[in-house]
Amino acid sequence: MQRATPNQLSEIVDAVAGWQHTGGPVQLHPGDLGWNCSLGEQALVEALRVWTRDGRIVAAGMVDDDSGLIRMGIAPSLDDDAAFAAQLLADLSDPALSAVEARFGKAFRELLSGSGWVADEPWTPLSRDLTEKVDDSGLRIEVIDAHDVQDRLLQDRVAVQRAMFANSTFTVERWRAMAAGPAYRRARCLVGYDGDGNAAATVTVWSAGEGRPGLIEPLGVHKDHRGRGFGRAITLAAAAALRELGSSTATVCTPSGNHGGVAAYVSAGFRQLPDATDFRRPTG
Ligand SMILES: CC(C)(COP(=O)(O)OP(=O)(O)OC[C@H]1O[C@@H](n2cnc3c(N)ncnc32)[C@H](O)[C@@H]1OP(=O)(O)O)[C@@H](O)C(=O)NCCC(=O)NCCS
Repeated sequence: MQRATPNQLSEIVDAVAGWQHTGGPVQLHPGDLGWNCSLGEQALVEALRVWTRDGRIVAAGMVDDDSGLIRMGIAPSLDDDAAFAAQLLADLSDPALSAVEARFGKAFRELLSGSGWVADEPWTPLSRDLTEKVDDSGLRIEVIDAHDVQDRLLQDRVAVQRAMFANSTFTVERWRAMAAGPAYRRARCLVGYDGDGNAAATVTVWSAGEGRPGLIEPLGVHKDHRGRGFGRAITLAAAAALRELGSSTATVCTPSGNHGGVAAYVSAGFRQLPDATDFRRPTG
């Protein structure tokens, strides 16, 4: 295991993108790295750990110091590799790492369970196939990509984010940090406006490249505009945007206790998949 370096960031994003496969579990995605880049590229790099084989990145982990969770992405070629799984587990011996998100990696998951790691909070993965055209959202949608940033749109993007999560610390500066990162090259922010021109909903969508699953992170509706179909509408718009970016499916994972979130995705045609739980380090 190595700590990432700043000049590795693009390579890590590309490696993580290459591990996404249609129909597979929703594991660490370039969008997760991209969203965390809003805290600054340096903070993201400091949070990243990489494993290499023959000079190629074959696994990556993103550490959240506050919660002690490391979110893992593993190359499909190592799914069944027991020796590699043992190396991963040994490398995660630091007790400050109290939980592991390992949604992929059969051998690693089996080893965690077999070593007494227990199920943590349940998350609900959801997925929508993008083969067919997505229904129109009915909202007026404005798109912000890295090359076309209008100040007014950006202010709306940030204002809705802050009004959808009470503890949000999102700012224009943080958006700019996110958009300057390598993952945002294949991402877009959407802002949805109601009939009176109010910015009511927003989402950021992240492609992992043509034919691979794209990720929604985050999505929400302004607290003053909920319960009027905007959650369903912005989800449809997100799916349509990912389809345009070439994604095979639109995927998302939300805490299973977020009943409104799950309901909004299902109402926009997402299939609810069985709960996924993180692994918590055994105590004692
Ligand atoms: C989740 C959220 C997007 C829903 O937005 P909304 O505009 O109220 O949703 P809609 O009015 O479009 O409702 C869509 C569906 O979800 C259901 N729903 C919405 N909120 C719900 C809740 N709290 N509990 C249960 N069902 C709920 C609606 O009944 C509707 O179902 P239907 O289509 O079967 O009638 C909004 O509450 C939000 O922004 N929450 C904070 C951010 C968040 O959790 N984002 C999603 C996870 S990343």
